[in-house]
Amino acid sequence: MLLLNTHHDYGRDLDPVDLATLGPEGAAAITRHLAQRPGHARTPLHSLPGLAAALGIGGLYIKDEGQRLGLGSFKALGGAYAVIRLVLEAAAAKLGRTLDDSDINDPAVRAVAAGMTFACATDGNHGRSVAQGAELVGARSVVFVHGGVSDERVAAIARFGAEMVRVAGTYDDSIVEAARVAAEQGWTVVSDTSWDGYERIPGLVMQGYTAIAQEAFDQLPARPSHVFVQAGVGGIAAALAAQMLTQFGADRPFFTVVEPELAACIFEAARQGHPVKIAHGAPTVMAMLECYDPSPLALRVLYRAADAFLTAADSDAVEAMNRLARPASNDPAIVAGESGSAGLAGLLAALHHPQTRAALKLDRASKVFLVNTEGATDPARYAELVGLSPEEVAR
Ligand SMILES: Cc1ncc(COP(=O)(O)O)c(C=O)c1O
Repeated sequence: MLLLNTHHDYGRDLDPVDLATLGPEGAAAITRHLAQRPGHARTPLHSLPGLAAALGIGGLYIKDEGQRLGLGSFKALGGAYAVIRLVLEAAAAKLGRTLDDSDINDPAVRAVAAGMTFACATDGNHGRSVAQGAELVGARSVVFVHGGVSDERVAAIARFGAEMVRVAGTYDDSIVEAARVAAEQGWTVVSDTSWDGYERIPGLVMQGYTAIAQEAFDQLPARPSHVFVQAGVGGIAAALAAQMLTQFGADRPFFTVVEPELAACIFEAARQGHPVKIAHGAPTVMAMLECYDPSPLALRVLYRAADAFLTAADSDAVEAMNRLARPASNDPAIVAGESGSAGLAGLLAALHHPQTRAALKLDRASKVFLVNTEGATDPARYAELVGLSPEEVAR
């Protein structure tokens, strides 16, 4: 299903706070941070001319976040960055001097970090990032997961020294529980979604994601005509939409937010014109996008900077994973997880329906930019859906 943006804020400039967080200044802050981060390298941007030709479009470019900071997803950029920023702010206040990203190994900073506990809820990737950031600065992390999070994903978070708490119910229930326990214990919640009165920290998390756009601007041969970005609570879509708007202004690419049709909370909030929580339905294969309650901060940006909202079927996501694993002609093979491939799933869904293709003006001249937001973060599930192991695809 496709919905063109008709919100009354559509086309307006970003709110000044959001501009400061997600515009050029915010992007410069995460770029400075990454320059100091051990083991950081920019992720590749792949050109897939074979798949573009097969789909009847002019070009297809995929930014591959599968290897970001060794964590397997773009979420590596957000949670860890927010944790480190918060530690540096607390230490600067305590020590009475200015600090920057190069000070995280200063013993006085580490002493402040040692007294801080960061809590978050996750369905996998965000928790790993928060845990990694806490480990890097020597802080404590406590990560809340719901019953649907696989043991493999839990183990991958615990590897960074996080204490894990299992919560009955859904992702939304784990968010509520993390916030409740953190308030009781005096911990800092580092959430990737915002709520009333809690926007600054999710804003920092989203600021981390703007690095993807900054790198892509350098790597793309030209401005794309279309961008398709998948959404859970809307954080990455909003960060990238804000970047497209501030980089290209009125000449920006046509920006489409893609969600699973089984969990399309941003789509519904766009349809109704205000934030809404949708009813829980059957699980989607795009597990990381299974969110029913959008981030108000992300929505505020998307109402202004997104052009369309689109849903994709689970079958589109599985087709997208397989097309990337078994490339056309000489295209590189890309290991994309169920949620990682969702931007391509949206493009496929649009191309499968002549009316949607026409409404989005997708034709032989279109140059499409997508983000593979995760690799095979659940390798057993990946092998089940693709019929090859991630190692076989990457070979
Ligand atoms: C792999 C992957 N892609 C996309 C998303 C969606 O991001 P957001 O919740 O910021 O919309 C997530 C969220 O966890 C994710 O893990």
